[in-house]
Amino acid sequence: MSNEKYSAAENYHRLLKNNKQFVSDKLEEDPAFFEKLAQGQSPDFLWVGCSDSRVPANQITGTDSGEIFVHRNVANLVDINDMNFLSVLHYSVDVLKVRHIIVCGHYGCGGVLAAMGRTHIGMVNHWISRIKDVYLKYEGELSAIQDEAKRGDRLVELNVTEQVRNLAKIPMVQRAWKNRELSIHGWVYGLSDGLLKDLDVVHEDLDGIEEIYRYENL
Ligand code: CO
Repeated sequence: MSNEKYSAAENYHRLLKNNKQFVSDKLEEDPAFFEKLAQGQSPDFLWVGCSDSRVPANQITGTDSGEIFVHRNVANLVDINDMNFLSVLHYSVDVLKVRHIIVCGHYGCGGVLAAMGRTHIGMVNHWISRIKDVYLKYEGELSAIQDEAKRGDRLVELNVTEQVRNLAKIPMVQRAWKNRELSIHGWVYGLSDGLLKDLDVVHEDLDGIEEIYRYENL
């Protein structure tokens, strides 16, 4: 949302001014806040969320700096051709040893809704084209939903479920499961009520995925 109370220049400078306020508020709470953070991070969570400006991981979960390692892209996709995502996954799982991975979608996701449609707007269509594959996989269920908004909401949930499954198929994740506990969760955020819904699609071992995806030699 652009802020109409401010000119474009004021709006920009507001961020730097807010930062000074953030620093003084934090120091008031805990004079060593930044010193402690500067020593390193050991977050318990990896967040895979949508780039949408209305779904800020820390704010909606009431967490602070240092608690969540974050990857965001349009429509929260887990893509094994995405070097950025794979690097984030590797670092958080193998080095930081996060204990939970949360894939968080959101109702009203523009990326998911665009994937349901047939309008080409450019580059982003390539990125979200795999959501059309999710749609086709669940076409029976989805086409039975008459209301388009409700059908979109269900596709948002199914997209999260599929991304959780995609994570479970990645050898890096399966190797971690051989040595320790790591849970993958699927959530959906409601833009209109601010609430997170746990879809209960947890994967914490190889059981949830078909045999053909289970690597034997990790
Ligand atoms: Co979105």
